[in-house]
Amino acid sequence: MTHVQGNQVITKAVIPAAGMGTRFLPSTKSMPKEMLPIVDKPVLQYVIEEAVESGIKDILIVTGRGKQAIENHFDFNPELESFLAESGKANMVEQIRDIGDRCEIHYIRQKRQLGLGDAIRLAGHHVGNEPFAVLLGDTIIDPPAGEKPGVRQLMEAFESKQASIVAVHRVPKPWVDRYGIVDGKADSDNAHMIRLNQLVEKPAIDEAPSNLAIAGRYVFTAHIFDYLKQTAQGVGGEIQLTDAMNMLAQDVGTGGMYALDWQAKRYDIGNRVEYAKCFIDYALRRSDTGSSIRKHIQNHLES
Ligand code: UTP
Repeated sequence: MTHVQGNQVITKAVIPAAGMGTRFLPSTKSMPKEMLPIVDKPVLQYVIEEAVESGIKDILIVTGRGKQAIENHFDFNPELESFLAESGKANMVEQIRDIGDRCEIHYIRQKRQLGLGDAIRLAGHHVGNEPFAVLLGDTIIDPPAGEKPGVRQLMEAFESKQASIVAVHRVPKPWVDRYGIVDGKADSDNAHMIRLNQLVEKPAIDEAPSNLAIAGRYVFTAHIFDYLKQTAQGVGGEIQLTDAMNMLAQDVGTGGMYALDWQAKRYDIGNRVEYAKCFIDYALRRSDTGSSIRKHIQNHLES
């Protein structure tokens, strides 16, 4: 078993981005869903900005076949930089370099898409024996104004408990069969934290233990790798992360698993409707696009 000692802080993030994105075909035939733009910035850039703004500089992206656009986006592009400089757009150079310069990005390829659990398992060598954050590459987290970035909130919860923790948000009861749902009891120290008994993947509506859905952000101790090794391929041949999390939740010696019930909005970009909502919400709030888009929507609704 992996041994974890002392008070540990999070310095590394793993971003799985190797999935096939079948819910977003035909776009994802040639373009990773993680590179879909929200106004003019790819989804994955928002995710990396969340990690960097949370204080994480070491980022491992799990990629796969057909995902080269991801590596190109965060790489240095000398031709584009000279073109911008020569055409009087030197101010844009800073903008295209920015995030790639603010962190160290590593890549590992998942050869066969064996599920989220398998993608995380591949990060074991890079992560070593440290606790680490996981941010799904197709999920944007938008906390209420003035609140800390999503994964920062989880990191702070981890630091107080020194145990693995997953972010959850409340969903309407009729939607529970679309999500991983958690079951547990409120923590006596913090009303927003729940000590987990179990996690149920897409439960039937009348069997769901709660309406708290897993939100695409996690902090794990290295114990998760022990359980991922023991997780067999399940439905669709995939290695389910929730199966390993369930075993971790039962293992009191590791600190078990907690959930943090937060207020942040979550957009699952792999879902067409949520992608469209995210695009509209971000376009409405930006100073360069907000008023035109608002007018367009108003005209549309009045016609
Ligand atoms: P999803 O289950 O939403 O992604 O995984 P998917 O399999 O690409 O989507 P659909 O259902 O076919 O439309 C959540 C995150 O985990 C990554 C995905 O890239 C996404 O960011 N993932 C998923 C992997 O890295 N590897 C996998 O084998 C599966």
